[in-house]
Amino acid sequence: MRQFAAPLGAQVLGLDLNRPLHEDDFSLIRKAFADHHVLVFRKQDITPQQHVAFSRRFGPLQIHVLKQFQLPGTQEILQISNIRENGEPIGLGDAGAFWHSDLSYKAIPSLGSLLHARELPTTGGDTHFSNMHLAWETLPAALQKTLLPLKAEHTYIKRYEEQRAKAPWRPALTQTQLDEVRPVVHPVVTTHPENGRKTLFVNEHFTSRIVGLPVDESDDLLQQLFAHSIRPEFIYTHQWEEDDMVFWDNRSVIHLAGGTPDDQRRRLNRTTVEGTVPV
Ligand code: SIN
Repeated sequence: MRQFAAPLGAQVLGLDLNRPLHEDDFSLIRKAFADHHVLVFRKQDITPQQHVAFSRRFGPLQIHVLKQFQLPGTQEILQISNIRENGEPIGLGDAGAFWHSDLSYKAIPSLGSLLHARELPTTGGDTHFSNMHLAWETLPAALQKTLLPLKAEHTYIKRYEEQRAKAPWRPALTQTQLDEVRPVVHPVVTTHPENGRKTLFVNEHFTSRIVGLPVDESDDLLQQLFAHSIRPEFIYTHQWEEDDMVFWDNRSVIHLAGGTPDDQRRRLNRTTVEGTVPV
């Protein structure tokens, strides 16, 4: 294990995901995941089936609501890609355009996501991760006290139409999809079930309001928290290499896709592991 000179993240050394994962290695990965929040496995030329099997070691997998962008034949994999085939997008090209924790809009949000690089641009395409334990720990004590009893609403549709206006290839959501992503409420401050540390659990993509506050107060407070949670000293930026597998903890980090130039192709496969009800 090689810890990064950053506020989160480590590279896992000497592991080949083509081979069966021994229980001892699995335990080390679980521990490192709780400690470092983002784990990077370099040079993992594995199949989608191996990606799914490795992901399942950490829990049941969640199926993304935009089923249009599943890897054909593998519903557990969401394609993150700006590539078009026969005029149609094969994946979510603008996934991660706002800071977020994957699937925080679900009643049972995600433990973590595993993103596997398949085709990378020569420039751009980085992913930024921010440490939400540090975001919580560096808030003024009086604000921490205010936040502790609060709950916030998270909703998938908060920015959906805004994204669709910029990216008209995004499909209109059907009633069935809307039913799958009804708004949910989570505590603003949660405790990580494995490392026991508190974390600030709000993000600009999906957190729509603080429950029980007037709209202007809720907006002001959320803006303050969103700005605080992405201070440069909390951030690790991942520069992708071919065949990287990156496993991040959606309970303790938020992330942002840095963007890819329009003339460059980018394609990654993502699985999302189910977590537990946030407390
Ligand atoms: C995501 O938000 O899951 C995608 C991140 C990325 O494409 O860099």
